Amino acid sequence: MMTSTYCVTLKDVQEAHKRIHNLVHVTPALTCSSLDALAERKLFFKCELLQKTGSFKIRGALNAVQSLPTDTRKAVVTHSSGNHGQALALAAKMMGIPAHVVVPRTAASCKKAAISGYGAVIVECDPTDESRTAVAAKTVETTGGILVHPNQDPAVIAGQGTIGLEVLKQVPAVEALVIPVGGGGMLSGIAVAVKTIKPDVRIYAAEPLNADDCYRSKVNGVLTPNPQPPTTIADAVKTSIGPNTWPIIRDLVDDVFVVTEEEIKQATQLVWERMKLLIEPTAGLGLAAVLSRRFQETAQDIQNICIILCGGNLDMSSLDWV
Ligand SMILES: Cc1ncc(COP(=O)(O)O)c(C=O)c1O
Repeated sequence: MMTSTYCVTLKDVQEAHKRIHNLVHVTPALTCSSLDALAERKLFFKCELLQKTGSFKIRGALNAVQSLPTDTRKAVVTHSSGNHGQALALAAKMMGIPAHVVVPRTAASCKKAAISGYGAVIVECDPTDESRTAVAAKTVETTGGILVHPNQDPAVIAGQGTIGLEVLKQVPAVEALVIPVGGGGMLSGIAVAVKTIKPDVRIYAAEPLNADDCYRSKVNGVLTPNPQPPTTIADAVKTSIGPNTWPIIRDLVDDVFVVTEEEIKQATQLVWERMKLLIEPTAGLGLAAVLSRRFQETAQDIQNICIILCGGNLDMSSLDWV
């Protein structure tokens, strides 16, 4: 299998692992017999909600900061008010450089508090894409910082791929991984690592029906972003896949399973109740996909499945749907 034409190779993921493994947790791959019974297979849950900053994002952020040549390590900048913003803030703090995170002035105050709690400077912008991009560009100019894109930066993708290396070690019998997809950094990083080492292991993406750009891109054979900002309870995956992640997803991802808002809510609650793990709804996507009718029909031959529980940064005040 050719993976060398992509922006990230297995070697990049292995080097990322060397850089970050002492700085992040090896999260457990837990099992749950009652969920096995529901899914009628053996499930392994890779608990990235227990990762530093409450999501896998610290892997990519740390790799990106550490990959910067030392003479350019003045500051880092990003425009994510979500998990990447928090992760980059902590990664920069751990490496002793400032982080500037561009956040819409309308963002929830708990998100701003988390980012500034990790020591980053918050730079407010208007709640539009244009303002976000313009303010981030200005911040890069004024601080001399380097922009670290949340899902298209190759160093971020390689960092997220380290999840795949851990899963292959922790679950040697794994036959498929089910991975939530937003911009596709996690999905493509894991796909490169796993498909290069064990090409027979299947890589499945899980996506909200309301934000199904990855599914439609695969069906159309061309990158097809969401036409407008989607509305979904899985708020960490509203973003579309992009030019660096698409070729990897096009070639190495075996299938994309879309799930309804109701399926996401049910799966999230199942993980809370049966596993006692406080995941955020985005992390319910994997189980929702595995329990969906299409998955049950099309992946009958697969017995050992690893689901990535990607994060646990839950905004408690948003739980009115429970
Ligand atoms: C908890 C969580 N899961 C999944 C994703 C999607 O990751 P990616 O954009 O790399 O596809 C994100 C992105 O912010 C996230 O925070």
